[in-house]
Amino acid sequence: MAQPDLPTLAELHARGAAQQPSYPDRGAVDDVVARLRTSRPLVLPHECDQLTDKLAEVARGEAFLLQGGDCAETFAGVTADNTRNKLRVLLQMAVVLTYAASVPVVKLGRLAGQYAKPRSSDLETRVVDGEKTTLPAYRGDAVNGYDFTPESRVPDPARLLEVHRTSAATLSMIRAFIAGGYADLRKVHHWNTDFVADSVAGQRYEAMAFEIDRAMSFMQAIGADPDEFHQVDFHISHEALVLEYEHAMTRVDAGVDERAAYDLSGHFVWIGERTRQLDGAHVELLSRVRNPLGVKLGPTTSADDAIALASRLNPDNTPGRLTFITRFGAGRIRDGLPEVVDKVTAAGLQVAWVCDPMHGNTFEASSGYKTRRFEDVIEEVQGFFDVHRQLGTWPGGVHVELTGDDVTECVGGGEELLEADLGDRYESVCDPRLNRVQSLELAFLVAEMLRARST
Ligand code: PEP
Ligand code: CO
Repeated sequence: MAQPDLPTLAELHARGAAQQPSYPDRGAVDDVVARLRTSRPLVLPHECDQLTDKLAEVARGEAFLLQGGDCAETFAGVTADNTRNKLRVLLQMAVVLTYAASVPVVKLGRLAGQYAKPRSSDLETRVVDGEKTTLPAYRGDAVNGYDFTPESRVPDPARLLEVHRTSAATLSMIRAFIAGGYADLRKVHHWNTDFVADSVAGQRYEAMAFEIDRAMSFMQAIGADPDEFHQVDFHISHEALVLEYEHAMTRVDAGVDERAAYDLSGHFVWIGERTRQLDGAHVELLSRVRNPLGVKLGPTTSADDAIALASRLNPDNTPGRLTFITRFGAGRIRDGLPEVVDKVTAAGLQVAWVCDPMHGNTFEASSGYKTRRFEDVIEEVQGFFDVHRQLGTWPGGVHVELTGDDVTECVGGGEELLEADLGDRYESVCDPRLNRVQSLELAFLVAEMLRARST
């Protein structure tokens, strides 16, 4: 298939791409890439364009983005229950934000493709049977195995085929849940089941669900039954990290515009904090595709960096094309973010601003678990809202690592999870996620921040 403007994989690698697996057998990689190139796309170009239009509303201050899911999906975690639970917590959060803050919410899963992880170190050391052992770091199920053995940690390109298969399975479950009416607003009570229903946030949600029910009954009594009650728009996203996979899934869609390439592995793809070098392979590849894009901006980002990224990735200044996902950390956002937002805005650049309150707030608990304090997460979102309020810009959304299950990975929150509790149910293979109760609490707190903004 002709790909008019696309650089080849070799050209991308020649840029010295960061955070790539060191595959031992290049021939095996080439075989996998050839198979992926003819695999079926996971999403379609017009769906990506629809999401761009929705994100344009976010960029204009007319809608709020809720993006969430695991830090790292795993192949073993792809079950109908797991997928439904994640969809359910996102739907609950979206309802809270929409109802409590009267803002349309764009729902974007961090799932169906989130299998590759950048790492701060290439190696991991653990004590095994009393001996210090060092092996290649786990880079996500897309690359190698989580088990701490030499065999499991060797990067295996065949895993990319499994990424495609499991992502397709997750997405088809999501599409089926939605088509089957799971996301129908009349199910607003049904989403509030099991452990969450007894929590304070769950009770608060239940009270709100009654009000929504009453409002819907009233609407129906007067003969109004808008489609929005029954349908939901839901899109998928992941970090575009492994070049082999993203390049092979990038297709030129002749039906739309024969010069338009889309990365059809997901609707929205983002570039991580560690791979956003201006002349790097990731920026180069994604500058050529027409999907809506995100870029993570960490605490060392200068306003000039952000402006240069916007010029490279969105030269036409199309609203909705580019989302900056800031992740400065609770202690640095108030100092670092204003200049970036101010100068990008002064340059007339159309971007959506989204807060990732997770990745700047990770620390290691004394027990060795990687964790985050719920209070730091909230503090960063509050800082994000305050900065945007001062500058008169729109705090466009939140990007969160969460799960629909009752895990114990982040400390604090209404249930006051302690560091000593982390071992009870710590399941993440990478970063700690908010559990379902903490996620709902976050939604109520963010809804209050949104409401305070409009008063
Ligand atoms: C992530 O989103 O899991 C991640 C690694 O983020 P960042 O690139 O911001 O560090
Ligand atoms: Co993470």
